[in-house]
Amino acid sequence: MKKKGTLPRIGFLGTGWIGRHRMQAICQSKEAEIAAIADISGENAREAAKLAPGAAVVDSLDALLEMELDAVVIATPSASHCSQAVRALEGGLAVFCQKPLGRSAQEAQAVVNAARAANRLLCVDFSYRFTSGIQKVYQLVNSGDLGEVYAADLVFHNAYGPDKAWFYDAELSGGGCLMDLGSHLVDLALWFFDFPEVRSVSSSIFSAGKRLKGYSGKVEDYAVVSMVLANGKSIRLACSWNVSAGRDAVIESSFYGTAGGASFKNVNGSCYDFVAERFRGTASETIAEPPDDWGGRAAVAWARKLRLEGRCFDESADQLVQVAAVIDAAYGR
Ligand SMILES: NC(=O)c1ccc[n+]([C@@H]2O[C@H](COP(=O)([O-])OP(=O)(O)OC[C@H]3O[C@@H](n4cnc5c(N)ncnc54)[C@H](O)[C@@H]3O)[C@@H](O)[C@H]2O)c1
Repeated sequence: MKKKGTLPRIGFLGTGWIGRHRMQAICQSKEAEIAAIADISGENAREAAKLAPGAAVVDSLDALLEMELDAVVIATPSASHCSQAVRALEGGLAVFCQKPLGRSAQEAQAVVNAARAANRLLCVDFSYRFTSGIQKVYQLVNSGDLGEVYAADLVFHNAYGPDKAWFYDAELSGGGCLMDLGSHLVDLALWFFDFPEVRSVSSSIFSAGKRLKGYSGKVEDYAVVSMVLANGKSIRLACSWNVSAGRDAVIESSFYGTAGGASFKNVNGSCYDFVAERFRGTASETIAEPPDDWGGRAAVAWARKLRLEGRCFDESADQLVQVAAVIDAAYGR
C-alpha cells in the first residue's frame, strides 16, 4: 500500500495494444509505480515487462489482489471489464478501466455500485476528452463565447474495423461500432453539456448494409443516433467500421450556438492528429493544431489524482452509467 510521500503502486491487467500504450504513458509520467503485470498471453506480458522492468509478472487478477497494490488498470477485452473491475474494487483497489466499462448499463451500474461501496476511485479511459482540441472547444462552449449552444454533431467513421476477432462477437464486445467508437461520442456530447437528463434516444443501426430492428445480438458496423436532452439541446451522432470513407477515419465533434460554432476534427484521415476551429458565420479560426500527444492523458490524470487525492470514490463515476444507458437505448434494449 502507498505510504505518505510514496507513489501509488499499480498493477496492469491486460497488456495488449492499449494496455501497453497506457502503461508507457504512466511510466513516463512518474505519477505511479508499475508494480505488477498480469496477462493470459505470456508474450504480451513479456512485451509489457520491457516497459516496466521492475514490475512483477503474475498470471491473474487473483495474484494481483494478493500484492498489496493501490490500484489496477484494466485493459482486457470488453466482456471482462465488469466482473474484473467489481472484483478489484471489492478487493480494495482503485480502478482505471478501458471503455466500455460494461456491455450494458446494468454492468456499468454494478461496477459503479462496487466502487461506491468500497469507496474507491473509478475512472474510464474516455481519452478524447483530453485532446488539446477538445479542451479548447469545451472552453468555448462552456464560457458562453458561442452564445446558447443548442446542438452538436459528432462522427467517428473508421474505414477499417478492429483487427481482433473478439470485437466482432457481441458476447465479448457488447456491440459493434456504437459500443467501440460511439461510446466516445456519447461521453463527449454528454460531458460538454454537463450530463443533463436524456429525454429521448432514437437510432438506425446497420450490419453489412442491412438495417437491424430492435436488439438482434448482431454486431453492427454503422449506427446513427439522435438524442434530445432535458434542457432541449439536440445531439446527432454517427459511427461506423469498414465504411468507404475515402480516408482512414473521419472523426469530428461540432457544436453550434447562437453566437458561433466550434469543431474538433481529424487531419487527413488520421486517428491521432486533430485540429480545432472556431466558426463565425462563414469564417473559421484555428484554435488547436497537431502535434498533440494526447493518448495517455486520461490514464495519467487518473494516476495523478490517485497520488494527490488518494483512492476515494469520485461521484462523477455516475456519468459512466448514463453513457451506457444511452447506448442501451440506441440498441433498443
Ligand atoms: N480508450 C480508447 O480509446 C481505447 C482504444 C482502444 C481500445 N480500447 C479498449 O481497450 C480494451 C482492449 O483493447 P485492445 O485493442 O488492447 O485489445 P487486445 O486484444 O490487444 O488486448 C487485450 C489483452 O488482454 C489480455 N487478456 C484477455 N483476457 C484476460 C484475462 N482474463 N486476464 C488477463 N489478461 C487478459 C489479452 O491476452 C490481451 O493481451 C477493449 O475493451 C477496447 O475497447 C480503448
